[in-house]
Amino acid sequence: MVVLYDYSLAKAAERAGIEVILVGDSVGMVSMGLKSTTPVTLDEMIVFCRAVSNGAPETFIIGDMPFGTYEVSEQFAVEAAIKLVKNGNVQAVKLEGGARVASKIRAICNANIPLMGHLGVTPQTAVATSGYKPYGKTKSQILELKNDMVAIENSGAYSILLEGIPSELAKVAKGWVSIPVYSIGSGPDLDGQLLLTHDLLGLFPDFKPKFAKSFIQESITELQKLGTQEISLFNLATYSFELYKSAVKTRKFPGVKEIYGMGEDSNSLIEFAKSL
Ligand code: KIV
Repeated sequence: MVVLYDYSLAKAAERAGIEVILVGDSVGMVSMGLKSTTPVTLDEMIVFCRAVSNGAPETFIIGDMPFGTYEVSEQFAVEAAIKLVKNGNVQAVKLEGGARVASKIRAICNANIPLMGHLGVTPQTAVATSGYKPYGKTKSQILELKNDMVAIENSGAYSILLEGIPSELAKVAKGWVSIPVYSIGSGPDLDGQLLLTHDLLGLFPDFKPKFAKSFIQESITELQKLGTQEISLFNLATYSFELYKSAVKTRKFPGVKEIYGMGEDSNSLIEFAKSL
């Protein structure tokens, strides 16, 4: 899975055989230059979702529900999700949170819209929660993670995305539910990986999360070795997606440099997680 927001990169991702595209509200920071994701609106998300669906018509596309579209009421959440599907042309939606938004997840799933839950580091509520620090390093966070994952599954979601969870914990957490669990910064042992295309291509200069990896240098070297006469940005992006996909499938990504550890109390915290 990759996150991206525009027609050309969507085309490159589809050509490379990327299986799922998430149109994330990270577009606010990465492409719009905002300081956080919270100001992004539903109308803005719809524009980006349409661009991506035009570029990758054969790929499964998930549209991110921006902050403010699913907190107020079940009806408001369902209406927003329907707009993303109808006007943004996506096949599924994603939202942040677990037990706290369970009734909204259930309402959206009851409208027959596939939904991915997002837990761990949740950028929309970073100010109110644990910020951008890895999540799950205390007993209370581990308990909360389990309750949230179970609430998401019981509310009808088809999958869960874990962001910034120490990999040892993520491996245990996967066993708490029976739906697929995807990783962004949560180690190699889950059902799939997600990476922001801007990180994959080294295109975002403001900061680089620990779990991000750029495939651009490797891509340039490989294309030169293959004797490619004219290297375009489109070819580079396509090849970088191919390298990323192959690194995930062969379990070379994420490597030790791209995962979070549990810290000092690692053994007792993992035993605690296993006991739940
Ligand atoms: O908006 C986004 O790109 C996301 C990912 C960081 C998971 O939600």
